[in-house]
Amino acid sequence: MALRQIREIGDEILLKECREVKEVTPRVRELIDDMFETLYEANGVGLAAPQVGVLKRIVIIDCGDDPHVLINPKIVETSGEQTGTEGCLSVPGKAGLVTRPNYAKVVYYDENMEQQELEGTELLARAICHELDHLDGKLYVDLVEGELKDVEELEEEESE
Ligand code: NI
Repeated sequence: MALRQIREIGDEILLKECREVKEVTPRVRELIDDMFETLYEANGVGLAAPQVGVLKRIVIIDCGDDPHVLINPKIVETSGEQTGTEGCLSVPGKAGLVTRPNYAKVVYYDENMEQQELEGTELLARAICHELDHLDGKLYVDLVEGELKDVEELEEEESE
């Protein structure tokens, strides 16, 4: 396993459409292992392959329950609404208010290329929506209500 460099906003690769994974090769497995190492090192909740410079439809999510690897994921159902603070490892030090569905159901392939389903609410639903957007070259900064803020500034507001 190895840490990969996280691409940051301004890097054009973050704005590109990712390609479907046809086969889980040893290289893809290595990519997934590296993504987890990179995610945990950065204390993140989710990471999409384009954030480490690979244009493949792979995201990993770990909200503290179970680590999830989603290959070629598609959201098939959403409901409700939640508005909360969101950040992204590709936009370091920033956060902003984003409204997302409060429930999301995603169909995806696992590492054995078997089709699976995952349902999430609250943080997991938010992470699913945020990470899947990366696969279509979309960043949360375009969804922020009001202004994108510095994380420090937000923490001060919350403690007031
Ligand atoms: Ni992100």
